[in-house]
Amino acid sequence: TYVIGEPCIDVLDRGCVDECPVDCIYEGSRALYINPDECIDCGACEPVCPVTAIYYEDDLPGELEPYLEDNARFFDEPLLGYDEPLGSPGGAAQLSPLGLDTELVASHPGRET
Ligand code: F3S
Ligand code: F3S
Repeated sequence: TYVIGEPCIDVLDRGCVDECPVDCIYEGSRALYINPDECIDCGACEPVCPVTAIYYEDDLPGELEPYLEDNARFFDEPLLGYDEPLGSPGGAAQLSPLGLDTELVASHPGRET
């Protein structure tokens, strides 16, 4: 799967969403997340991200490795206020933005401006 990492937080360019042929990039509140069960590894999203937030899982720089598990967690664990995990909804357009993030993303201190 491809993975969206820390550079997306509070940037949310969303250019990646328009490129994805299977609509598997879901918007939380402060970042977007790729559904690893729906991503077909086409790679179309990776080059369009202006902040280089997207990597194939095996190519993640060390500091972004936690985001492999974290993108999966967005779908595998119930988000705050939900009883069920998102799972594989089969398309982000109807659901985004979810308005919620994983703990890893939510706890990010934010960017200096
Ligand atoms: Fe985020 Fe880059 Fe997509 S900033 S929304 S991963 S284009
Ligand atoms: Fe979509 Fe990127 Fe995967 S464009 S199919 S999320 S590699």
